[in-house]
Amino acid sequence: MLYTKNTLPDNTRLASIAVLQQSLVNAIDLAAQTKQAHWTVSGPNFIALHELFDQLHTDADGFSDLLAERISMLGGQPQGTIQSVEHQSQLEAYPTDIRDQAQHIEHLSTAFAKFSDVLRSAISEASGFGDEVTADIFTEVTRGADKALWFIEAHAHKN
Ligand SMILES: [Fe+2]
Repeated sequence: MLYTKNTLPDNTRLASIAVLQQSLVNAIDLAAQTKQAHWTVSGPNFIALHELFDQLHTDADGFSDLLAERISMLGGQPQGTIQSVEHQSQLEAYPTDIRDQAQHIEHLSTAFAKFSDVLRSAISEASGFGDEVTADIFTEVTRGADKALWFIEAHAHKN
């Protein structure tokens, strides 16, 4: 870890960095999945979903930036390469052979739900370490991811 005048204890910073790193790779994976969906979706709601998935990519990129920069603030080294993501992501691999909008909605909603689920545990863990600022960042990211999940699932409701 790099030296910093941040007064959080070293063991707290180390613990937070590890939890941040997990959601960082998940966020990068999530961003790639939204682009895969943006490029390949087809169906009657093409334009709405094509545009929504691009917005979700922007959102997921923002999540990874918040998480990675918090790691740097704590004196850590974010691991954000494709190779790190491949080894550490907890998301299911996104299917590359689908086009149907219902299938994209199913797979992307699963990915966002898993991403949020991991974050909710991370909020409690960071609070437990005594790092309330990291917990707040996890809360902010979860708020965005839950909203994204709502937007995706709203396309699947039949009413
Ligand atoms: Fe595009």
